Amino acid sequence: MHHRPFGNTSLNVSEIGHGTWTMGGMWGPRNDRSAINALVKGIELGITFIDTAAVYGHGHSESLIASAFKEAKQKVSVATKIPPKNFQWPAQHNIPLEETFPKKHIIELTEFSLKNLRTDCITLQQLHVWSDQWLEQGDELFETISLLKKQGKINYFGISINDHEPNSALEVVSSGLIDSVQVIYNIFDQEPANKLFPLCQKHGVAVIVRVPLDEGSLTGNITRETSFHKKDWRSRYFTKERLEETCQHVDQLRKDTQHLGKPLSHIALQFCLAHPAVSTVIPGMRTIDNVEKNCVVSGDALLKEVDLEKIKKHCWKRNFYS
Ligand SMILES: NC(=O)c1ccc[n+]([C@@H]2O[C@H](COP(=O)([O-])OP(=O)(O)OC[C@H]3O[C@@H](n4cnc5c(N)ncnc54)[C@H](OP(=O)(O)O)[C@@H]3O)[C@@H](O)[C@H]2O)c1
Repeated sequence: MHHRPFGNTSLNVSEIGHGTWTMGGMWGPRNDRSAINALVKGIELGITFIDTAAVYGHGHSESLIASAFKEAKQKVSVATKIPPKNFQWPAQHNIPLEETFPKKHIIELTEFSLKNLRTDCITLQQLHVWSDQWLEQGDELFETISLLKKQGKINYFGISINDHEPNSALEVVSSGLIDSVQVIYNIFDQEPANKLFPLCQKHGVAVIVRVPLDEGSLTGNITRETSFHKKDWRSRYFTKERLEETCQHVDQLRKDTQHLGKPLSHIALQFCLAHPAVSTVIPGMRTIDNVEKNCVVSGDALLKEVDLEKIKKHCWKRNFYS
């Protein structure tokens, strides 16, 4: 496993980080034993960065991480997230900051995560949504973050950017007030490479890539026949027409990459790691099998420029979340 600097911080993180939304809930029946095994295996294979959130199963994913640390007899960096108080995803740009991240809420949710993670300090605390409109109203927010840092309850602070809206955080990236951003970046959504990534490089802001596998479509395992469990949120995300459209794009991508002789998931992660602004890529992993498959990507050679250029042509603008 290779490691990369985490922006301007003193942290180095594994190129493959561990995404844990899938093990927290909303992705069909849970299997805690498999999830803990996956986390322990990840640590054994060199993962040093795990992403979670207070809302993933109302603290469940966080407590699975604590259990995995106990079994692995080792701790690694954890990034968690504070949900907006109004529980609105994505961030609504006209809503005042006091309705989303007031001081009391930030402190209470940080205490909630500390308890679930059974720790005294969270490596990276993030806001689960962000709007640049809030920057002007942010005095109390950033004072509260400074206080939490001073108290040793968090080391670093970052934001998670609205789905497919990478340019909604350009101002905060330039402000010097955050250590990291978390953003959707994958073969289909390459928009962050235009403005966000160069700006992050300029200001030393770390980039955490989420949804690198397009919620599963870029694994090649989702087909026109796939039927999602009724408790898997993707039963509403990949509706029949969207599934058909997605499979057409995946089929074309497969044709252009089959000469590489690697699984599509492997190529999808290699694509994300090819951008030098990226510190870590966090595929959602709840089985040992997927952890093993994804961790080997970091040790593999980089994609050749000619292949990268071919893959870039598969960029596809859409927003299935809205
Ligand atoms: N707003 C936010 O801040 C936000 C939003 C979304 C995600 N996130 C974070 O980003 C992480 C990653 O995003 P995500 O989990 O939504 O989507 P993702 O990583 O793009 O895709 C997850 C899916 O890929 C599958 N998968 C993973 N590795 C595989 C492999 N090698 N072969 C085949 N299938 C594989 C998983 O399989 P199984 O179903 O078999 O487990 C799961 O269905 C999350 O876990 C979470 O930590 C943050």
